[in-house]
Amino acid sequence: MTTYSFSSDPAGKVGTGVLVLPMFEEGDPGPGVTAALAAAYAAARYTGKKGEQLLVTGPAGLAAESVLLVGCGPKADFTITEMRRSLARVAPQLGRFGSAATTLAQVFGAREAAGAVGAAVEGLALGAYRFTRYKTAKPKPILKKAVVFGSARWDAKAVSTAARRAVIVAEAQCWARDLVNTPAGDMPPAQIAREAQKMAKAAGLTCKVWTDAQLVAGGFGGILGVGKGSANPPRMIELTYTGAGKQTPIALTGKGIAFDSGGLSIKDAKSMETMKDDMGGAASILATMKVLAQLKPKINVIAAIPCSENMPGGRAQHPGDVIRHRGGKTSEVLNTDAEGRLVLADALAYLAEKKPQLIIDTATLTGACMVALGTDVAGVFGNDDDLTREIVDAGNAVDEPMWQMPLHRDYRGLIESNIADIKNTGERYGGAITAALFLSEFVGDIPWVHLDIAGPAFSEKGTALASRGGTGVPVRTLVKFVMDRAAAAK
Ligand code: BES
Ligand code: MN
Ligand code: ZN
Repeated sequence: MTTYSFSSDPAGKVGTGVLVLPMFEEGDPGPGVTAALAAAYAAARYTGKKGEQLLVTGPAGLAAESVLLVGCGPKADFTITEMRRSLARVAPQLGRFGSAATTLAQVFGAREAAGAVGAAVEGLALGAYRFTRYKTAKPKPILKKAVVFGSARWDAKAVSTAARRAVIVAEAQCWARDLVNTPAGDMPPAQIAREAQKMAKAAGLTCKVWTDAQLVAGGFGGILGVGKGSANPPRMIELTYTGAGKQTPIALTGKGIAFDSGGLSIKDAKSMETMKDDMGGAASILATMKVLAQLKPKINVIAAIPCSENMPGGRAQHPGDVIRHRGGKTSEVLNTDAEGRLVLADALAYLAEKKPQLIIDTATLTGACMVALGTDVAGVFGNDDDLTREIVDAGNAVDEPMWQMPLHRDYRGLIESNIADIKNTGERYGGAITAALFLSEFVGDIPWVHLDIAGPAFSEKGTALASRGGTGVPVRTLVKFVMDRAAAAK
């Protein structure tokens, strides 16, 4: 485990394994760069372009053993988002130095100090993530200590708090990545539930796991229907965080499909390869609750997370079956591969019964959303424009890119069923919208936002912040949203 801290000491005076310093285009040296270092950089024919890296021995007069000069592009374009990404990019190489420090956050002013230091810690921690559970070879050395330097004029308390918060958020996000990266064979619904219980116990959250028998008694026909074809029974994880007494809570849910084979409407082999990630929504909600338990904001949050495995076993639901959801609505299951909305419908209906102030769900819901927005951008739908925009803004602020999509009510006719209240597929076009419209039927009149994270939950190529595999999106967004709400309520 790495410890992260803030320091306002002069960067050159502090002993460290490697000191990471920014170089900007037009030969503009960043904070901490000495004349000798700038000369070495120029001698290597580097110009400060993004992605450049020069590793040199710490020159005389600097306490650092080595210095890593990092090209950061034009200084005018260097945002906190850019900085988080720059540090994530270099983070995998820092472990071998034992300890690291950086001045990248120092580029920003006092007003942005807390945000910059937090983002620096996030970049370092998210970038250093590795999933080593199944590697027999010993993992490479882990960084023991990382220091983010900043100005002595900054509010040291606020900045240190931001650093601490960033560590908690990044560690939880990496835990969500572990849950996603663990193969479905080792992470069935009951195992997700055990992980949740273990987390809840350590963090001090109330956790109730609904067994399949309890789900039957409670009328959770969607969670059960999807799980019918699997030997691994479904579960629902219910978590409660109480930070504000009797206040009306915020409600969260996330799609927890342990593996999505498609069921009898089976996927082709290629599309199935990454389907262990179909519980990415569930993982991100678990991680968000973990963070809240640690940060203790004055707000109440409840979560109900449906976990099923979508398999084509002998007892699997048939295309054409009708299921009855929690609360009584029926849906006709024309395509068993449109299973996410079926399990979420139950959880949304259950949460809506509790009359929360708002509901947020996040789900690897549709391939159509990836066609619309690509692999990196989450589609955001909602029945309340202000709330939807608040989430989109939170996402973009923390570099979890989001775009608002229309909950176009005219398409409701596309999911009208001949025999049930609703059917679970529309037509080829507008698949992300009809999926969102399906979900909207289960939240009643409660303000609700739906994040379709089919693209950003998992990266096959790796992103700016995450190596290949689960990304933990949208943990940072949800944490920011809840923390900002709690702060505003004071
Ligand atoms: N889990 C998938 C969506 C998905 C696709 C997530 C690719 C991540 C990457 C979802 O359950 C699904 O299969 N959706 C279908 C819906 C269709 C049958 C209406 C889809 O998008 O093709
Ligand atoms: Mn599916
Ligand atoms: Zn799915």
